[in-house]
Amino acid sequence: MSVFLQACRREPVECTPVWLMRQAGRYMPQYRALRERVPFLDLCRTPDLAAKVTVDAAREIGADAAILFSDILLLPGAMGAQVEFPEGGGPAIRNPVRTEADVASLLPFETGSLACVYEAIRLCKAGLGAGIPLIGFAGGPFTLASYLIEGGGSTDHLAARSFLYGNPSAWRALMEKLAAALSLHLRAQIEAGADAVMLFDSWAGALPPQEYRTQVLPHTRRVFESLPPGTPSIHFGTQLAGHLRDLAGCGASVVGVDHRIDLDAAWEALGPVAIQGNLDPAVLLADRQTIERHASEILSRAGGRPGHIFNLGHGVLPRTPVESVKFLVDFVREESRRRRTP
Ligand code: CP3
Repeated sequence: MSVFLQACRREPVECTPVWLMRQAGRYMPQYRALRERVPFLDLCRTPDLAAKVTVDAAREIGADAAILFSDILLLPGAMGAQVEFPEGGGPAIRNPVRTEADVASLLPFETGSLACVYEAIRLCKAGLGAGIPLIGFAGGPFTLASYLIEGGGSTDHLAARSFLYGNPSAWRALMEKLAAALSLHLRAQIEAGADAVMLFDSWAGALPPQEYRTQVLPHTRRVFESLPPGTPSIHFGTQLAGHLRDLAGCGASVVGVDHRIDLDAAWEALGPVAIQGNLDPAVLLADRQTIERHASEILSRAGGRPGHIFNLGHGVLPRTPVESVKFLVDFVREESRRRRTP
């Protein structure tokens, strides 16, 4: 079995598995060249192109896992949100959710509307072979709700937070609709061949822990609990230091943490789950010595305990040199193997 899947199960491994969020993206010249010709959403919806981007990136950097090239906003799009990715700007939703009636008019998700995603997964599996596992994914319930309500990206998530406080029954209905859709979407990805699935609830840290615990986490937990038993699953979010004790019970086998917390402190708060993280993506803009020093520190904080998957605290930044990414992947593999050799 691959070191990535072994680590998801907290089994001892010969070296620490490493992959990077956004490992296929704008830091790669071939990706930028492809994007000159193909708009982002078309790329996500064209199975052979999405699969090629996924497989080529994982192979080029030598990652221990591939993540499907897609986006979390495809699912709200399949539920009636008019999602756009204007060139050079963040995503926008033209018909944001602002009332209880807007929640009611979101369509129930049918997997047939994202058949292109599952086809891309089948093509990825054929291209990757048995050696490199594939991670499928979706957005977490809070992050999807935030995009739907805000109508796009937000730094404070104020519209989403005030919707939660001001319309508790509509919020609950929205969470239930999203959780049902997420469960179907992730299960369809697993059926198509995804070896593991990941929920990106990137902005859940915007909520007070009490609200997160009562208004979001039960829905997240229901999604993870609906997956086929034994399927490795990852929950990721940023700025969740105050939420870790709650996240320990989210039902995922792995919790991904960002770079705003020490890995060992996070692991202590989480208890017996696997952990993924957590190098600051900005470190990859520095020289090799600096990359080595910071990657070593994370390996030290993991302390050789089974169940660590090396990753960044968030996605690879577009300015990152490809050579630095490859250097990091090789370094983590060799250094973690060296540390395990008596
Ligand atoms: O990790 C991966 O490489 C897998 C593919 C993936 C993408 N987006 C590709 C993408 C994944 C897992 C996502 C998740 C995603 N998408 C999140 C949660 C994770 C996170 O980054 O916090 C969010 C919030 C989105 C929504 C989204 N998509 C935003 C805010 C943006 C614009 C910001 C940006 O980086 O440009 C996107 C676009 C996007 N998604 C790109 C990629 C490679 C860049 C598109 C381009 O080519 O211009």
